[in-house]
Amino acid sequence: MSDVRSRYTDGLKFYGTHSPRELLDTYGSPLYVYNEAVLRDRCRRLKNLSSHPGFGVNYSVKANANPTLLRIIREEGLVVDAMSPGEIYMDKLAGFSSDQILYIANNISQEEMRHALDEGLLISVDSLSQIETLGRINGGGKIMVRFNPGIGAGHHQKVVTAGKETKFGVTPDLLDDVLALLKKYNMTLAGINQHIGSLFMEADGYIEAAKVLLHLADRLPADVFSTLEIIDFGGGPGIPYHKYDGEAPLDMDRFGKLLHELMTEWSARTGYQGRFLIEPGRFVVAECGVILTGVNNVKYNGPNCYVGTDVGFNVLARPAMYDSFHDMEIYAGPAGMADRAEKEQTIVGNICESGDILAKKRLLPAMHEGDVLGILDAGAYGFSMSSSYTQRCRSAEVLIDLDGKARLIRRRETPEDLARQYEGLL
Ligand code: LLP
Repeated sequence: MSDVRSRYTDGLKFYGTHSPRELLDTYGSPLYVYNEAVLRDRCRRLKNLSSHPGFGVNYSVKANANPTLLRIIREEGLVVDAMSPGEIYMDKLAGFSSDQILYIANNISQEEMRHALDEGLLISVDSLSQIETLGRINGGGKIMVRFNPGIGAGHHQKVVTAGKETKFGVTPDLLDDVLALLKKYNMTLAGINQHIGSLFMEADGYIEAAKVLLHLADRLPADVFSTLEIIDFGGGPGIPYHKYDGEAPLDMDRFGKLLHELMTEWSARTGYQGRFLIEPGRFVVAECGVILTGVNNVKYNGPNCYVGTDVGFNVLARPAMYDSFHDMEIYAGPAGMADRAEKEQTIVGNICESGDILAKKRLLPAMHEGDVLGILDAGAYGFSMSSSYTQRCRSAEVLIDLDGKARLIRRRETPEDLARQYEGLL
């Protein structure tokens, strides 16, 4: 049944055999809800970008590390990148083997490198000094190096990860120094990688940056080139967050065509027979996730209407952190369907900071206490960036499976969970 504003999830049968209210009643608020069919579809779209035999998709786990979702992603044939011991742990819990996990490190300690090596992982490092550190503890071993192609991109300055204004990668002018260090420690360059930034809606910048990385591979001496197994172009494919404004999605046909041509032509020219990876996070999981919450309060401060929920920036950090836009759906509560004229409303959480805003002066149908709100596209960098600030317990997570049935895939935290780390220390 169509609700106050529910066209998007209705069209997908997102909640399967359940209603949003029933899910909230069963599992509590706020609640992360994921849809398995959407997740599998996004994995397949990415895998279908190219039929090049070496092409693969390396899911960037930082976007969402729920092991049940990781298991589905593994079933779909993706491999994963990890960037912390915790992510390695979750990847292995989900059944990924060591050769299916790449460790894409930034500023890590020698101990952390040793841990990743003990876990059997290939490590990508991104500075001369980190090559030295890895060389000292793993001389004669394999290494990957992350380069900085000089082209950055992203939806916010905070997520642009290439170019001179970022901490990431080795600039290509230092290639000779990299090669000298590899020689010094007798290391095999098994891979090169990059990541220019997060959220592009046009493929061109990504393809240009990929060309820069391939150009760098062209400059490798033949003996080094011959050991190269992996070229990873990084992540960044975006999703349309403005669902109700009809924002166009990334043109995957064109992206796939450009990428396929690039990989095919270049490997034909160079004789490269290794793997090519892309490293998306957001595209895989963003659209399969919605946060449900109840409207607890509607109030006016002067002319400003505030709609109060329990989704503070401890639950969804993106709006407060990057001014990110998440579209919203409204499912009617006891107020029913009457009195729903559109008006500007500022949707806020329950945290004691005035920056705790989910959506500022958003034009939406009038909301009333008791309504249920759905915050769309929250599967990526939603739960994974959530916190227990103000000692609020992190949400439960639920999966709507292919039969439309809900299944709890993470229990809601309890105050006892929060207190566990103090046990025996008081
Ligand atoms: N590879 C590396 C090395 C990365 O650092 C990232 C993301 C990715 C891949 C995946 O990027 P994606 O395909 O998801 O754009 N919290 C921000 C996004 C931060 C991205 C950090 N790195 C947000 O909520 O928009």
